[in-house]
Amino acid sequence: MKRFLDLAELARAEVLALLELAGRLERQPEPRALEGKILGLLFMNPSLRTLASMQAGMARLGGSSFVITPGQGTWQLETRLGAVMSGAAAEHVREGIPVLASYCDALGIRAFADGRDLAADLAETNFNAMAALTSKPLINLESAVNHPCQALADWKTLDDLGVARHGRFVLSWVYHPRPLPLAVPAAALHMAALRGMEVVVLRPAGFALPQAIMDKARRAASMSGGSIRESDVRREALAGAAVIYAKEWGATECYGDTAADARLRAAHADWCVRGDWFEHAAPECRLMHCLPVRRNVAVADEVLDGPRSAVLREAYNRLTAQMAVLYRLLKGL
Ligand code: CP
Repeated sequence: MKRFLDLAELARAEVLALLELAGRLERQPEPRALEGKILGLLFMNPSLRTLASMQAGMARLGGSSFVITPGQGTWQLETRLGAVMSGAAAEHVREGIPVLASYCDALGIRAFADGRDLAADLAETNFNAMAALTSKPLINLESAVNHPCQALADWKTLDDLGVARHGRFVLSWVYHPRPLPLAVPAAALHMAALRGMEVVVLRPAGFALPQAIMDKARRAASMSGGSIRESDVRREALAGAAVIYAKEWGATECYGDTAADARLRAAHADWCVRGDWFEHAAPECRLMHCLPVRRNVAVADEVLDGPRSAVLREAYNRLTAQMAVLYRLLKGL
């Protein structure tokens, strides 16, 4: 494995092998496996879990890492091609990324969606332009429409919890005061489809996921024996659910138009996961969310603090899953 940019670039068997490796490293730690190796981490956007778990994972395998957060102690980085750099950014990624890559054995990049042009974000225009600037092993730490590290951790969490392979996985839109990117819902949808689950995308009108994201997940489902459908009827979608995967995202109907998005979402402030969402779900139904989560806006205290919540296990598995990715990229075994 040379790059870890999208779970869809791996065969299903390779994903299963990564999950097996994650479990093995958890049971039998290898604290010297990546001795002498250095991971560079470029965060164009904020993070808690991804940043900390990548550094911790590298250290637990005997390697080391450095973090660059442009504008916070380092030069602000320009990403636009052809930009006249007379503003705040003193350096362009066209120099910055090759320089950073020359200091390390593998590089991770986080670069969120621009959020204005849906076609450009779906094409991963910005992330791909940065990825093309290095031939070093590369990890996608969250791009416009993908978050493969989160997806791998979520798959491991489903396995850890004993969620049936074909169980019902409800990816539910939940409220947030402003539009959030499509990366996590797209990655979670694809992951659950590739795992073989009965996936229901539950969302209000105006918040359907783009066709390209749905089509990609349907292809994964067809390979794994899973299924995908959409619903805007909460009671019907949640009936029999094994997992409610709560996630906030922007209105795709008016992508990039924050005023129109605000008008649409204002009617859906009641899309906050509460205890009664589980009334008709499977008895053991679990709540998943990638975090960070706004308490009592997206998910209520009673759910996050209750026995159904798997959010801390998901966050912990960022470490275990990424250790497998680092091991595979840097040790190759
Ligand atoms: N879920 C996730 O990627 O968390 P961070 O944004 O804190 O890294």
